Amino acid sequence: MNSAIGTPKEVLDTPALCIDLDVLEANIMYMAQAAHSMGVGLRPHSKTHKSPAIAHMQLAAGAHGVTCAKIGEAEVMARAGIRDILIANQIVTKDKIARLMGLAAYTDVMVAVDTAGNIADLSAAAEAHGVTLRVLVEVDIGLGRCGAMPGEDSLALARLAHESKGLRFEGVMGYEGHTVMIADEDERRRATEASLMLLTGTADWVRSAGIDVKIVSSGGTGTYKITGAWPGVTELQVGSYGTMDVQYYENVGMKEFNYALTLAATVVGVKGSERAITDAGIKSLTKDFGWPLLIDPPGWELTGLSEEHGWLTRRGGAALRPGDRVTVVPTHGCTTINLHDEYHVLRDGRLVGVWPIAARGKVR
Ligand SMILES: Cc1ncc(COP(=O)(O)O)c(C=O)c1O
Repeated sequence: MNSAIGTPKEVLDTPALCIDLDVLEANIMYMAQAAHSMGVGLRPHSKTHKSPAIAHMQLAAGAHGVTCAKIGEAEVMARAGIRDILIANQIVTKDKIARLMGLAAYTDVMVAVDTAGNIADLSAAAEAHGVTLRVLVEVDIGLGRCGAMPGEDSLALARLAHESKGLRFEGVMGYEGHTVMIADEDERRRATEASLMLLTGTADWVRSAGIDVKIVSSGGTGTYKITGAWPGVTELQVGSYGTMDVQYYENVGMKEFNYALTLAATVVGVKGSERAITDAGIKSLTKDFGWPLLIDPPGWELTGLSEEHGWLTRRGGAALRPGDRVTVVPTHGCTTINLHDEYHVLRDGRLVGVWPIAARGKVR
C-alpha cells in the first residue's frame, strides 16, 4: 500500500476510504458554531466516524462529550482519553455490565436505561464495584425502538434511578430517528417538534416531582436546527454531519455541510463501452440507503455492487479503461466506515496521515 505522507490521492492504492481534512474541519466547526449560537451543548455521536482522533477534533471545537452506541465504542473512546461518554443504548448483559463498571471506575460514563429491572441490575453492580454510574432515562419519543413511554412510565423510572444506590440520575434522552430524514423541511419540523414536546414535557414532569433533570439529550444531523433551538433540550447527539453522506446531503438537503468522506476505487475491467467494473464492492461500500454516488469521472453511474466489484454504467461519460480512478461518495457514512480499517487523511489532495478507525466492528 502506497501510504507515504505526501502521496497524491490519485496514486493511493485502492479501495481507499479518504477524508478531506479541510472539509471535515469545516463541518465540525459549522456544527459547533450552530450549537453555540443556539445555546445548546454538543455531544457528537461517534458511531459515525468511530475515530478517537475525530472525536478529539469535535471536543476541541467545543463539544463537551461524546455519544457512543456500544460499550466497545465507549471503551475505545475512553482509552483515547475521553472522559464524558454517553452510551445511548441499554447495557443489559452481565458481561457488558461488568465492562461498564470498569469504565465507570475511570471515566464519567453515562448510560441509557428504560426498564426497572435494568436499573436494579446496574445499581447492584455499581454498589458491588464501589462506583457511581450516571444514567439517563431513555424516552421513546416516537421512533418505536428503545425507551420508556413518555410521562408516567418515564417518571417512575427516573424516580427509581434517582433513589437507587450506586446510580446518579442525570436526566432524559430521546432520539427522533423517525424524523431526521424527512425530506420536506416543514414536515420534518412538525414531526420533530411533536417528538420534542414529549421529551421536554417528560423532563418537566420529573422536575415537578422534585427530581433534578440536568441533561435533556436528543437530536440527529437532520434535526439539529430544530432540536438545538427547542427550549429545554440541553445537548445534541448529532453524528453524521462530520463526514456526511449522500443520504443527508442529497436526499435530506443538509447542504450547509459537505462531503468529507469519499472512497477511491480503480477500474479493473470494462465490458464494451457501456460497462466498467471497479475494485470496490459490497465489502467496501454499503447500500442500505441506496447506491453510493459516483462523482468522478462524470457521466458514469454506480449501478451494482457484488462482493469485490462495483458495477458502473455509462451515462454519456468518456470511455473508461482498466487502471482509471473513480471517486464514490457513500450513501450511509456510519455503515460504510465500519467496513474499513483506516482513513486516508488528505489535505489539498495529498496524504497527511493514516488514522485507524479504532471503533469499527465494536458491536459488542
Ligand atoms: C441514539 C442516537 N442518537 C443520535 C444519532 C445521530 O444521528 P445522525 O447520524 O443522524 O446525526 C443516532 C443515529 O442513529 C442515534 O441512534
